[in-house]
Amino acid sequence: MKDVREYVLRTPPGGVKRYDHDALCDLLDVDDRSRVIFEQGVGREAIVRVYPSNPLMNMREVSVDDLLMDERGYVTLGTYYDGSPMRFRLFDPKTGNAQRGAIFGTTGAGKSRLVQAILVACKRSGIVVHLADLKNGQSVPEANGQIATRVTTQCEAILMLRGLVAEAERRMKAYAALGRSGFVIGDPDPLVYGIIDEANRLLEKGAPFRDEAARLIKELGRTGRSVGVGVILAAQAGHLDELGGSDTLRAMLKEGEVILLRWSSGMMQQLVGDGLIPRGEALQPIPKVVGQVRRIRRYNETAAEDYDDVNSQGMLYHLTGARPTSMARTYVVGSVAPCTGHDPLILALYGDSSPPGQAIDLEAYMTSEERGSADGEDDGAGAPPNKPTPDVASMTTADRILEALPPDGMTEAELLAALNDDGGREVRRGTVRTTISNLRNHGQLARPDGTGRVIPVPGD
Ligand SMILES: Nc1ncnc2c1ncn2[C@@H]1O[C@H](COP(=O)(O)OP(=O)(O)O)[C@@H](O)[C@H]1O
Ligand SMILES: [Mg+2]
Repeated sequence: MKDVREYVLRTPPGGVKRYDHDALCDLLDVDDRSRVIFEQGVGREAIVRVYPSNPLMNMREVSVDDLLMDERGYVTLGTYYDGSPMRFRLFDPKTGNAQRGAIFGTTGAGKSRLVQAILVACKRSGIVVHLADLKNGQSVPEANGQIATRVTTQCEAILMLRGLVAEAERRMKAYAALGRSGFVIGDPDPLVYGIIDEANRLLEKGAPFRDEAARLIKELGRTGRSVGVGVILAAQAGHLDELGGSDTLRAMLKEGEVILLRWSSGMMQQLVGDGLIPRGEALQPIPKVVGQVRRIRRYNETAAEDYDDVNSQGMLYHLTGARPTSMARTYVVGSVAPCTGHDPLILALYGDSSPPGQAIDLEAYMTSEERGSADGEDDGAGAPPNKPTPDVASMTTADRILEALPPDGMTEAELLAALNDDGGREVRRGTVRTTISNLRNHGQLARPDGTGRVIPVPGD
């Protein structure tokens, strides 16, 4: 490697406690801070490399092969700065354990793209996923129809979590009855993940279902792991002390997979304070803009045009991996330029097959009280305005959707309006979305074509 300078340093015993990247760069006389990479080794050794430019700037596109789970339960999500693969564990065949994962990072750091890569990895590897995309389904829109369950509201996320906990309990009893001590993929049950993007919305102070969400996630972390039901959260930090209060995450992530993308200033302190990042202070910061040289501009000097564009998305530390203090980056996932509809590159990664597994029947996990109040929720107390005709009242939402759709389909908004005009129970947007996605998974509706139209399968 010509053009790369490398220094092996001796550090105080136990490594550098307070790492000052700027000071190191000044010492080396390098203006572009992102060209210098520091990695604390074990014991008293650290390595410093000075590259001609940041080595993580030209990542290749992710491939389906990267995302196929290998026999040790790993998928490859990117590389470390020195080019070696960055692997993420989805299963441990030795112990039969599903994993508990967390992806932290500030807005725009690349959490959702990473989630998307994990979703593709799961679909391609036969892993069943139940997903809550709590930014109204906008974080990973391409996942619609590619996973067993997709919910987009907090209320549905709770029902989904109840379903996951119930599944873990069912498995525990069933395996105990069989005299089984461990979980084996596919014998008889598949590996399952509950994945929540924007989990902070569910868990932050003042969130409507915060306590139950924290309890269910904790429960899942505790009981699910050994019976093949894992959980992965992606969360914006800054509210970390509020992520479900007390020790939800700490307990869950003790032996989990933790990834830290670019963080915001307040966040690191909280992560370290929460005990989630033991070596936080020795991590070289991830810059917002890589290649930026901060210096005074003289008269007549101008900055390059794209001087301020964020270009470090996907840069991260895999804190629970073998190299926690080594800077890494995810491969490129999907189109770099914005797309008007679903990203065709991401859809291609998912492929055309139907996703593994069955959707969670959310309504089955409503209490009778919730069942009673859900419909009248929006128009206050009192009887529903339209008395349902008997047959519509007894139909499932799925049947009502199939009934309402003309052969050339309609948009989701039109469909919602049609359903709420058919004389049956009021249907909420989230329920419609989930039901559409389930119907697509079961081949009863056409796959999404990027236009957002809901189209019945011909002859149905
Ligand atoms: N792995 C990646 N490959 C390609 N583009 C990425 C990647 N990660 C992030 N990006 C870019 O950064 C933007 C923000 O990423 P996103 O995952 O939505 O961040 P977050 O969920 O943390 O707010 C994306 O819209 C995309 O343009
Ligand atoms: Mg996001």
